[in-house]
Amino acid sequence: MGFEIREVDPATDFPAITRCMFDSHENPPQPFFHAFFPIHGDTHDAREDAIAEGATRLHSWHTEDPTSYWQKMVDTDTGRIAGCALWNICKENPFADGHHMEVTWFPDDGSRRCAEQVLEEQSAPRARVGQRPQVYLFILFTHADYRRRGIGQKFMNWGMAKADEMGVEMFLDSTPMGKSLYEANGFIELEKNVIIPRTNNPDDAWKATEKKIGHSTWFLMWRPPGGNYEEGKTVKPWEKN
Ligand SMILES: CC(C)(COP(=O)(O)OP(=O)(O)OC[C@H]1O[C@@H](n2cnc3c(N)ncnc32)[C@H](O)[C@@H]1OP(=O)(O)O)[C@@H](O)C(=O)NCCC(=O)NCCS
Repeated sequence: MGFEIREVDPATDFPAITRCMFDSHENPPQPFFHAFFPIHGDTHDAREDAIAEGATRLHSWHTEDPTSYWQKMVDTDTGRIAGCALWNICKENPFADGHHMEVTWFPDDGSRRCAEQVLEEQSAPRARVGQRPQVYLFILFTHADYRRRGIGQKFMNWGMAKADEMGVEMFLDSTPMGKSLYEANGFIELEKNVIIPRTNNPDDAWKATEKKIGHSTWFLMWRPPGGNYEEGKTVKPWEKN
């Protein structure tokens, strides 16, 4: 079995990418995923609708964002997508205009407010310390059928080479499942971010969404330019006077 990294074709690839992304986050279940890509209902059709909406949204995020760089890992025996990475290749400060993400994929009720709060808190740590050019790993997944065969590592190799070529830092917000991959590549944990949605007056839509998303844990991970972090020696640019 062989694997090959290819840049995605935005015109054709997003439906298959999105299906692989849903499968990958459902096994094992990653409840935070609901904040980004909700399934409104519990039928087969509801899931298919969610995948179709997700594919349309990923396509427009990609085409509207000049920093967006999507890669797929193709199983060269079957042509199947085994995993993907979405990088933001930022030649400038990605937070020059703040870090608000407008949530349009929930109805305009408590469910949207809940998802907005979760996504706001998810991006806040990096927005505080990462206001410089960087390579950011936004999305990474390997389908469960292909895990522990070095696919995540191959994507990381590409990203680290890209960051080194640009001479910039790398950041990512890691799930608990991804953390050991990043630590094995010399990333350090800057901050643990436990997100618990809160409101004083939850409506039924908020409560249902909060139940699905649950409490999520993230780790803000960082790699200095060139890698080779040394405790006590490597300068953290956001700590400079
Ligand atoms: C995290 C994820 C992308 C890893 O993908 P992968 O293709 O299986 O990773 P690799 O095979 O390249 O793993 C490389 C190394 O990372 C570490 N690693 C990866 N997955 C691990 C796991 N589940 N437990 C412990 N270590 C793990 C190991 O050191 C591994 O090397 P080894 O297999 O020789 O021990 C995959 O498990 C996944 O898609 N999870 C669901 C979505 C997710 O959480 N994505 C991360 C978002 S930040």
